[in-house]
Amino acid sequence: MKNGKLQVAVVGCGGIANQKHFPALKSQEDKCDIAAFCDIKPERAQKACSEYGAENAKVYTDYRELLKDPEIDVVHVCTPNVSHCPITIAAFEAGKHVLCEKPMAATTEDAQKMMDAWKKSGKKFTIGYQNRFRPDAQMLKRTCEEGKLGEIYFAKAHAVRRRAVPTWGVFPDKSQQGGGPLIDIGTHALDITLWCMDNYKPVSVMGSVFEKLGHLPEAAEGNMFGPWDPETYEVEDSAFGYIKMENGATIFLEAAWALNVKDSREAATTLCGTKAGAEMVGGMSQQSYDLVINETTGGVLTEEHISDSGSIAFFEGASGGTDASKECRQWLDAILNDTEPLVRPEQAFTVTQILDAIYRSAREGREIRLS
Ligand SMILES: NC(=O)c1ccc[n+]([C@@H]2O[C@H](COP(=O)([O-])OP(=O)(O)OC[C@H]3O[C@@H](n4cnc5c(N)ncnc54)[C@H](O)[C@@H]3O)[C@@H](O)[C@H]2O)c1
Repeated sequence: MKNGKLQVAVVGCGGIANQKHFPALKSQEDKCDIAAFCDIKPERAQKACSEYGAENAKVYTDYRELLKDPEIDVVHVCTPNVSHCPITIAAFEAGKHVLCEKPMAATTEDAQKMMDAWKKSGKKFTIGYQNRFRPDAQMLKRTCEEGKLGEIYFAKAHAVRRRAVPTWGVFPDKSQQGGGPLIDIGTHALDITLWCMDNYKPVSVMGSVFEKLGHLPEAAEGNMFGPWDPETYEVEDSAFGYIKMENGATIFLEAAWALNVKDSREAATTLCGTKAGAEMVGGMSQQSYDLVINETTGGVLTEEHISDSGSIAFFEGASGGTDASKECRQWLDAILNDTEPLVRPEQAFTVTQILDAIYRSAREGREIRLS
């Protein structure tokens, strides 16, 4: 703490740092300073420092040097997926609180190491699932908590884009990201679904993973972000999971950056309960989410539409600023007041565990049992 404010460092000054973290942290200037910037590309850290840095903010190219600074209280990890584990562990060992971008890790093994380091540290830990802060997500969560849906026994987690393969950064690079749309956007849809169901006990997972369109030059035409390079495309283009929970509830997860469907739907869930159902309809190019509650009123089947301006954020060319400041404020308050962050590490761990099991099931051609 310096002058009563948390000193925050951001590691990785690329897309998500610029679109979400820097503006959000800046909006919480009464609670924090952005005191250090780190990127292996020094010009990125330098540029961010001059735009968002507090007085005397420092610039680094090696996160290990940054972590030696005793004045830093909080580290935001905004690097490609595979590096989340070593950077987060090093930050806990240096005694910092950590907000790590989603997904927690590329594998369950890495996620477990992060959980162990967190528990040893006694510090706060959260993962960047900002979609939970969308007004429609908050409303759906409340609806579920009030029991309006009854027992939720079937759900669909939607993360399907017709053609929106990210063409910047290292997204199609398996060695740095660990996978494609499943780990990138499937992670948000599954997080929302498990959180609304409040069910974190998966027992078995079946998965199918496809590399069908990514290598086809003709499929890359019409991509929202411009054509991708089929030669360097290394990850799946779509993946599907069938997840059974301990209480018998079942979730179907669909994730695609490219799939020949009519409608795109992202960071969304469909929940089916004994009393009513709920569907989030939105994502990608749509600016708002429509939340629909399906029920029976006076013997008639009804649909209640709850619209709001909640927008999914944070891909090139589109962002929804309000969600990010809510996420950031709740996180900083959790540190300052010693309370729980909304996104708890155990919950994000289960998301990574399920995604990893879908990849494994597809590789090994069998059902994966989880304990
Ligand atoms: N919450 C969301 O909705 C959301 C959206 C986009 C990305 N993300 C996540 O954020 C992370 C980064 O994605 P991005 O789109 O910003 O990628 P990006 O490629 O635009 O930025 C990553 C930055 O990290 C830097 N970097 C790489 N290794 C580093 C290291 N060891 N030390 C310091 N800097 C390093 C790169 O040079 C780059 O500037 C990913 O894990 C991604 O899943 C989350």
